[in-house]
This record gives sequence, C-alpha cells and structure tokens, in this order.
Amino acid sequence: MDAIIWEGNRLRLLDQTKLPGTIEYIECNDYYTVAEAIKRLSVRGAPAIGAAAAYGLVVGAGQIQTEDPKVFLEKLESIAGELGATRPTAVNLRWALDRMMLRLSSAGEKSVQELRDILLEEAHAIYNEDVESNRRMGEYGQQLFPDEVRVLTHCNAGALATAGYGTALGVIRAAHERGKKVSVYADETRPLLQGARLTSWEMVQEGIPVTLITDNMAGYLMSQKMVDCVIVGADRITANGDVANKIGTYGVAVLAKYHQIPFYVAAPLSTIDMNLSSGEQIPIEERDAREVTHHAGQVVAPDGVKAWNPAFDVTPNGLVTAIITEKGVVQPPYTENLKKIFRDKKQE
Ligand code: MRU
Repeated sequence: MDAIIWEGNRLRLLDQTKLPGTIEYIECNDYYTVAEAIKRLSVRGAPAIGAAAAYGLVVGAGQIQTEDPKVFLEKLESIAGELGATRPTAVNLRWALDRMMLRLSSAGEKSVQELRDILLEEAHAIYNEDVESNRRMGEYGQQLFPDEVRVLTHCNAGALATAGYGTALGVIRAAHERGKKVSVYADETRPLLQGARLTSWEMVQEGIPVTLITDNMAGYLMSQKMVDCVIVGADRITANGDVANKIGTYGVAVLAKYHQIPFYVAAPLSTIDMNLSSGEQIPIEERDAREVTHHAGQVVAPDGVKAWNPAFDVTPNGLVTAIITEKGVVQPPYTENLKKIFRDKKQE
C-alpha cells in the first residue's frame, strides 16, 4: 500500500487516519490540501511528510499564475513556508523543501514551465532515494539481528511512514526476507495508535508474526525476557546522537537500558540535523488535547480536565546502542561518528 502516489500529474495521499478499516486516498488538487493532510496526520512519518511536501510544492507551483520567473520564485518560497510550518519536529519536512528550493536557485535562467519541470524531477528524486535508502538501511540493520529474534517497536516507522519499505520496519522486513525468524511486538502507541492501526497492519499484510501490546506493557514484557531488542525510527537526530521520536520512545529506551536490551534507531541521513548540537534544541510538537481526552471520537475523560499532548520525546544518545543509516551502522561516540558519515558522503 503506497502512502504517496504521483500518477498522471496528480498527487494522491493515503488517508492514514482511516486505517486499517478504510482505504481511501485524498486527491490533492491544491497545496492547501497537502498542508492539511500533513497537519491532521493523514500522511505522517518523517520521510513520508518530506516526500509529500516536495510533491505539495509541485502542486503549489502549478497554482501560481505568472510567466515571470522572479514572481514565481517569490510565490513558491511562500508556499514552501506554509508547507514547512505544518509540523515542527520531523526535520525531513524542512530538509525536502529546502532541497527543492535549492535545486531551483542553482538551475540558472529558466522559464516558469522549466522550473515547474525541475521541481517535479526533484520530488521524484526525493521519493525514489528514500525507498533506496530504506532498502540499504534494511540490509545494514538486519545484520545486527541474530537468526531468531523478538523485536519491540514503537509507533510506525514502516512503508506508510516513508516513500516505501520503511526504516525500523524496513530492517525487520529485510531480516524476514533473508529467512531470519523475526517476530514483532508492536506498542499500540497512544494517543493516535500508529502501532495498533498501522504497524500491526503492515506486519499482518507481510506475514511477519506480530503481537500487539498496550504501551504500559513494555516493561513487563522485557522483565519476562520476551524481547531481544528494540528498534524505532526517528523524526530528528541531533549532531550528538539524541533522538526525537514518537512520544513514549524515551520510556522504552530507559526500560531497554535497565533490562540490558539493545536499543536501535533506524533513520536516513535526511533525518539527521547536524545544525542542532543536542536534543534540547529540537522543537517538540504539541497537539490538540482532544487527542488525549477522546478516543475514536468518544470522550474518555471528564469535562473540563486539562490534558497535555506532546507528540514526541527525546531519547538521550546514551540510551541508543546504534543508529542504522543508509550509509552504514553508526556506533557511539555519535558526535564524532555522525560527522564522519556526513564527511564520507560529501566525498562520494
Ligand atoms: O506523528 P507521526 O505519526 O508522524 O510520528 C511518526 C514517528 O514518530 C515515526 O517513528 C518517525 O517519523 C519515523 S518514520 C520512518
């Protein structure tokens, strides 16, 4: 199931808020629809919102009515600003939009139509490179798994959260494809249930054994020696290896450390923000309190109660056993080794 489809010059986004019950695509005829889809989590997951925003910019470029390249670029910059402001934590969103704008600014003198064509080419490149990165990450990551392994994951870092294949779930898929006996525990991931609705759905479709647990079961699961390692995705990793990911990840990492279970993070370089030195600098999205006070449209808390709803937390680098990227597995010390991986990339 593709989260993002570009077909016949049209963008369609799978409405993940309706999964697993209903499969419905949102037709994006204007960029506001794309921005809205990102805000309401119809399309979600760091790499997926980056790719969706890139295509959103292509859609927006089609809405600009001018033949003057300068006016076109000014209007496009403002559309990129609107798309970039939809969600603050996942750096892939801003990364993809910056990459699109940079491609145009380095294109030289072009007509508006030529600029539109370049944008589409770049959006396709972002999309295709993401799938390719995930496959590479899968290959590197699966080497960390023994032949038989029980893995706990949090939220959804699968095909639905990316252009395809997935990051954390990509590693699980790769191990399964190579004949390893992998079974998965999926945290349901309150408040929006990405684990229950999306991760367990992807695993069931793939025929990978999966057991759903509520978030508060992870500690007991580990104490019963029922899990061998944890693997999660990331929304932003800072230069020192601190990891922002779905709320609850930090708790799982603390539990893993206590129980001496490896805690792996799988993420492409587009998720690593070398401009931030540590996790405290990551903007953490706070979402509507109704996501906590309500469940599936039903109220589950008394009227007038206050609720706090940070969508992400930060796991300090000391709890992270290794970061799996498309360029290889990065081990601590992260400040040194992340720098090195970017240096090597530049030299390619
Ligand atoms: O709020 P969401 O559903 O967009 O949060 C997604 C996550 O936290 C994922 O784990 C992360 O983006 C990595 S996706 C490959």
